[in-house]
Amino acid sequence: MRGFVQAGVIAVACAVALAAGLAATGVMGARQAPAGNGGDLDAQVQAFLESRRGQWHDLNVPEADGRTLHDLIVTKRFTRALEIGTSTGHSGLWIARALAKTGGRLVTIEIDPGRHRTAVANFRAAGLEDYVDARLADAHELVPQLEGPFDFVFSDADKDWYTNYFTALWPRVTPGGCFTAHNVGAARMRGIREFLAHIAALPDGTTTFDRTTPAGLSITCKTRR
Ligand SMILES: C[S@@+](CC[C@H](N)C(=O)[O-])C[C@H]1O[C@@H](n2cnc3c(N)ncnc32)[C@H](O)[C@@H]1O
Repeated sequence: MRGFVQAGVIAVACAVALAAGLAATGVMGARQAPAGNGGDLDAQVQAFLESRRGQWHDLNVPEADGRTLHDLIVTKRFTRALEIGTSTGHSGLWIARALAKTGGRLVTIEIDPGRHRTAVANFRAAGLEDYVDARLADAHELVPQLEGPFDFVFSDADKDWYTNYFTALWPRVTPGGCFTAHNVGAARMRGIREFLAHIAALPDGTTTFDRTTPAGLSITCKTRR
């Protein structure tokens, strides 16, 4: 099990997956992906990831961090996910793989057309296209327009905008939901220090850190009312 589980951070998984239709969020398609597509899909995703192992060269997360995100979503039964910074889809594949098990869906945003195209092709090749709504957009503009709510956010685009993304999205994160951010181990990167100070001072959230890889992942979860 992952470090955050060992640390007892995840004490209780949600008893019931949030059931409200994703269409009501205003950001996802009208069709909700079926929960738990069985072992066949998971085996297909696993085979795809194995076929691409060592070939993720577009600032993609290491496999271990993808797995951490996957485990967090499955353990907490998250269903309404947002990723900022798709690149070619490595983390998105791990997130969507988890959502295929919880019956959720991912909105993921990428500004670079070539990376977006490759990501869409990767989601399709892995059999996960029903679980992903991949947007080609500038997240600075799109994020404030997203209605939510979200129970899972993964921030992995421009670090100097992390605090802005967080500030825009936190009100739309459900109680018990988590905002995760990559590369928080790089304290000298512009924006990271400010982001860390911001999440440390939250009155309604608790942050833990997963340091499985040097990149570092923060996991900020909203207090349940
Ligand atoms: C670190 S990479 C994401 C890696 C991806 N999460 C993965 O693991 O496969 C960051 C991505 O964010 C994109 N990006 C940067 N600024 C952005 C913005 N304002 N809106 C949307 N995407 C942006 C970059 O083009 C880049 O592909």
